[in-house]
Amino acid sequence: MESKGANRFLAVLLLSIATTAFSAPYYDSGLTPYYYDYACSQALPTIRRVVKEAVEKERRMGASLLRLHFHDCFVNGCDASVLLDPTPTIDSEKLAGANNNSARGFEVIDQIKEEVDKVCGRAVVSCADILAVAARDSVVALGGPWWNVRLGRRDSTTASRTTANTDLPAPFMDLNALTSSFQKQGLSAKDLVVLSGGHTLGFAQCFTFKDRAHNDLNIHPKFAKKLQSLCPRAESGSDSNLAKLDPTSSRFDTLYYKNLLKQKGLLGSDQVLFGGGNTDELVRTYSDNANAFWKDFAKSMVKMGNIKPLTGNLGQVRHNCRWVN
Ligand code: HEM
Ligand SMILES: *[C@@H]1O[C@H](CO)[C@@H](O)[C@H](O)[C@H]1NC(C)=O
Repeated sequence: MESKGANRFLAVLLLSIATTAFSAPYYDSGLTPYYYDYACSQALPTIRRVVKEAVEKERRMGASLLRLHFHDCFVNGCDASVLLDPTPTIDSEKLAGANNNSARGFEVIDQIKEEVDKVCGRAVVSCADILAVAARDSVVALGGPWWNVRLGRRDSTTASRTTANTDLPAPFMDLNALTSSFQKQGLSAKDLVVLSGGHTLGFAQCFTFKDRAHNDLNIHPKFAKKLQSLCPRAESGSDSNLAKLDPTSSRFDTLYYKNLLKQKGLLGSDQVLFGGGNTDELVRTYSDNANAFWKDFAKSMVKMGNIKPLTGNLGQVRHNCRWVN
């Protein structure tokens, strides 16, 4: 009797070790949700608090922080390369087309880093992990899903504006180009549709959708009119005027997808996800199934967060997210 019980116990133990070791996200990336549990148990609560305060002060900040993590991961992996300021040896990604006068939230990341290093007593938490956790906490603060963030990324000692310019997708891309851009990062067409749902939050400037507003045919006429008056064709002075990416731009909801069904996607890259291509069905699904969107968004965010992390002795943990140590 006793040995039968012990055997069963052993079998369960081995099975759970095996499933932990081989379940894809841990095994593939070398990251784990428990990374800071012993090194600094206050790290994650501190990030959450600072993000919450920042989002309460300005709802848009949640959108900006989510986007920073995306722009980090798509350029040589999630290594905080996006945070490095320009120096004679750093080819700052902040100056790349998709980021210059557009990426924001850097001061909040600085504040998080400062407070986390203080509470931990030293620089144990990487800037890349801060970006990943801040993105999750932003989504939660604005009503979206929670997910367990895998941790243990280290920070790069280099940046590449050139790679940022080639690897960050542009708003005028068609479905094929967008799919290729995601495929290059190991992400599927489904990930593309799901993660584009990040555009349920935040704003875009006229120069990113002005062409579409004036020239595209796959746009709702009244919606186009509104955008045309916000962004007059011959007035470059209005190029930084802001439009909401979806009408409830500070609430994580399914309106982004509902609007695509009505040709009211703000960016060209949004609308092409619903336009007779093979992603139409998914857009339809998420438009009236918040549960599916929440669940898949969480899953795809973990997948995006696993892109080429620096682990072990690679890279470093920066003392200041803007500079290499
Ligand atoms: C699919 C390809 C994508 C393209 C072409 C794209 C393009 C853009 C553009 C042009 C803007 C406006 C920037 C500006 O006007 O300054 C923007 C904003 C934003 N993007 Fe994307 N994006 C894409 C995917 C994503 C993904 C995967 C996420 C996150 C999961 C994301 C999150 C955001 C957020 C939250 C904003 C608003 C930022 C703010 O208000 O500060 N985007 N995106
Ligand atoms: C970035 O934007 C500024 C305007 O604020 C502009 O002067 C500069 O040329 C831009 N940099 C690049 C590399 O495009």
